[in-house]
Amino acid sequence: MTERAHFGKIGAILATAGSAVGLGNIWRFPYMTGQDGGAAFIILYLVCVLMLGIPGMTAEFIVGRHGSSNAARAYQSFGRGRAWGLVGYMGIFTSTIILGFYAVVAGWCAYYLGASLLGGVNGSADEVKAYFTQFSSDPVKPALCALLFIFITHVVVTRGVRRGIERASNLLMPTLVVLLIIIVIASCSLPGSGKGVEFLFHPDFSKLDSNVMLDALGQAFFSLSLGTACLCTYASYFSRQTNLLKSASQIAVIDTAIAIMAGLMIFPAAFSVGVNPDSGPSLIFITLPNVFGKAFASVPWLGYIVSILFYALLSLAALTSTISMHEIGTVFFQEELHTSRSKAACIITLWCSVVAVVCSLSCGAVDITLFGLSALDFCDFLTSNILLPLGALATCIYVGWIIPTKTVRNEFTNWGTVGSSSYLVWLFMVRVVTPVCVVAVFLHQLKLI
Ligand code: TRP
Repeated sequence: MTERAHFGKIGAILATAGSAVGLGNIWRFPYMTGQDGGAAFIILYLVCVLMLGIPGMTAEFIVGRHGSSNAARAYQSFGRGRAWGLVGYMGIFTSTIILGFYAVVAGWCAYYLGASLLGGVNGSADEVKAYFTQFSSDPVKPALCALLFIFITHVVVTRGVRRGIERASNLLMPTLVVLLIIIVIASCSLPGSGKGVEFLFHPDFSKLDSNVMLDALGQAFFSLSLGTACLCTYASYFSRQTNLLKSASQIAVIDTAIAIMAGLMIFPAAFSVGVNPDSGPSLIFITLPNVFGKAFASVPWLGYIVSILFYALLSLAALTSTISMHEIGTVFFQEELHTSRSKAACIITLWCSVVAVVCSLSCGAVDITLFGLSALDFCDFLTSNILLPLGALATCIYVGWIIPTKTVRNEFTNWGTVGSSSYLVWLFMVRVVTPVCVVAVFLHQLKLI
């Protein structure tokens, strides 16, 4: 087998941040915040990122860099029984399901990008809503957009780790930040935008309940790409000098900053034009075109440009994330079947396309419901609120209790060169705090505590 590729120093951070930053930040975080009561949800979310997310990410990095191979093999590389490979298999499976429904929403973004370029998405509030309902329940268009998105992802992934993934991330991530800053400034300078800022930063704790807690936990894991061996796969391309805890913290800070900025982009504008922020998953597709139209009514060309920028931003952010989800399965098949990258990528592309088409059709064209949810919402709930926390829990138990401590310590401290002082605190978080919190939230959900 040829030697495995490695990311460059900046590339490692940008590619992993590219995986973390995506629709989770710009689509999911704002609608969850809107639904779950604003600032109080954000505080819980921050607690989850800090106490569970960063330690969990570092644990996944340890497995990945030590294993230096695909996720399933990495979990078996510590000589603690092949059964632990199941965590890797579960991660690979979960990420393909996520890629399936994620591509549907990414496809909507790409479609809205095209539609805003043609000046299509405007009109009265009802018209904008009807436009979305009509589009998302169309049997063909949204499915084609999702397939197109998977295809673009496929092309980047087959180009390889350095020429494809790293290059795309180095270019896309900085572009994204610049675009985001422009829209935040535009949104916050609208009259009456202060109420939106208040909604984001003034907590109302009466809104908190166990569902909000599970949502915050699921959102933190989803946004950090934690719990599906995605970070494990990317860490297999890290070098021995990469400081794992520091990288996890940097990525969590970038990810959280972008989520909060997405909030600052959406809520001030929504409040400024009196649009309700709790409309759920369709928030950015129904509320925002309205917002752009109304907010920039006096300068229509600016509204036109901002809406194009916005959907371009979303599509780019989504792309760096779909790449990472695709890569997990691709490298697995490439290494396990000893086949070429492009053949391995085809397997993932085909399977995800099936999931994507089912999810896309379930949004109105065909009645596909599971447990009362549309296939898309079901996949989202199943992965974010159940499989990701389970995956992260298993990883923390594995790293905290099962792998020989010496190996863990060596990986964490880069063989005694960095971070020895934070090692014990981190180990305590991984061994006790993360597992206890995840289990507690689950039990609470099941009404057992
Ligand atoms: N974190 C990404 C986002 O916020 C989504 C994502 C990419 C992801 N890779 C993942 C989620 C792996 C879970 C697992 O949009």
